[in-house]
Amino acid sequence: MTEPFPVGIDGLAFAGPAAYVDLADLAQARGVDPAKFTRGLGQHRMAIASPCEDTVTMAVEAGAQVLQAFDIDPAEIGTLIVGTETGVDHSKPVAVYVHDLLGLNERCRTFETKHACYGAMAGLTSSMDWIASGRARGRKALVIASDIANYGLGTPGEPTQGAGAVAMLVDRQPRLLEIQPASIGDYTRQVMDFWRPLYSKYALADGQYSIQCYLDALAAAREDAVGSRQDLLGELQACLYHVPFVRMAFKAHQRELEMEMGQAISKDEPEQWHQLQDSYAKRCAPWLTLNAEIGNIYTGSLFLSLIDLLRKAGSKLAGQQVSLFSYGSGCGATYCLGKITECAGEWEARLDPSAQLAARRRLSIDEYEYMVRAGEHADRLESLNPDDYGLSGGLYYTGTRDDRRHYESV
Ligand SMILES: CC(C)(COP(=O)(O)OP(=O)(O)OC[C@H]1O[C@@H](n2cnc3c(N)ncnc32)[C@H](O)[C@@H]1OP(=O)(O)O)[C@@H](O)C(=O)NCCC(=O)NCCS
Repeated sequence: MTEPFPVGIDGLAFAGPAAYVDLADLAQARGVDPAKFTRGLGQHRMAIASPCEDTVTMAVEAGAQVLQAFDIDPAEIGTLIVGTETGVDHSKPVAVYVHDLLGLNERCRTFETKHACYGAMAGLTSSMDWIASGRARGRKALVIASDIANYGLGTPGEPTQGAGAVAMLVDRQPRLLEIQPASIGDYTRQVMDFWRPLYSKYALADGQYSIQCYLDALAAAREDAVGSRQDLLGELQACLYHVPFVRMAFKAHQRELEMEMGQAISKDEPEQWHQLQDSYAKRCAPWLTLNAEIGNIYTGSLFLSLIDLLRKAGSKLAGQQVSLFSYGSGCGATYCLGKITECAGEWEARLDPSAQLAARRRLSIDEYEYMVRAGEHADRLESLNPDDYGLSGGLYYTGTRDDRRHYESV
């Protein structure tokens, strides 16, 4: 029997809004010890989208970047999937706006996936299946995760907001990460841990319960992927997780180590606690700096961590195995194993969004709150001026006229 060809992630790019809030400023405004946000949650900044920046504009920017950085002709894309839980229409998919604005071929399968923070993983695995089945006929898939995390002013979730898009090329013989189909494990259960009713701009969350649901889903999806293996972590150079806030990755890693040790790990047992801290410091912490700077980007957050890993260690970890865990509230999850390719290191510089992040504008809390309130009505406004939010040099949402959304390059 011939070996199946490897399929996986061939290119990656991040794009996000032009402004951010520093969590030290937010802590001061809310009368909270800043250490709760920085150490307790592990977050430092959160990207804030203005009313002119939405799921479409960020997805287009990330998509354009990945095509350019990885030298792909738009005509080579045969499937476009946008994973989002913050779409702009109840019916029309974000993906079809993106298809048009990126100038993709009309002979392209295009759709949106929604399952809270799981939409992009659903898009990634279904486009891998599309390629493996032979239906792709040599074409590539473009999967884009794009979201704006909005919990509302003064809520427990407020410091875990963020916004941004990650675009991924999916192809055979990928240049960055091969994913082994036999290692993919899935899990689904109906739970009310986080949701957003049709009438609300803001997500509702049973925060502590959602953490439990996440950890239960991790254990179940991992078991579906690799069974009850107790020696997996030793083979992995990096463990990447869905990152609603950075500290969640620590809790997730603790759960995985506990599964391997067959017992709970407590701070009161210094030896086990050190083992956990060492493993986290080696396999997780180095790849969480972008998440700490950008915040929760929902369905793209796992892949933001993957960008961080590959931009820093693509060459050092060539040929090494990593794990990926995606969780979407509600809930659905996938755990899988991937191998960093031998040539991944060649792309380190092109993956690095540092210059984009350094150009962001720091908002005062008054400006941030104004922006949030303005965003509540933006879908109904006829005319929006990007200049009012200090924006230029990009594609922006400029208002809804005759019930149609308008996008313009300014
Ligand atoms: C995650 C969430 C529940 C936390 O909100 P909260 O209940 O106000 O926060 P907590 O009181 O649990 O504090 C958060 C952490 O900061 C720590 N902390 C609190 N005050 C602190 C301080 N002054 N210094 C350092 N750490 C502090 C807490 O001990 C806790 O850490 P732990 O979980 O490791 O014990 C909230 O942000 C939320 O609802 N988020 C949205 C839903 C979500 O992200 N779910 C995750 C799964 S998808």
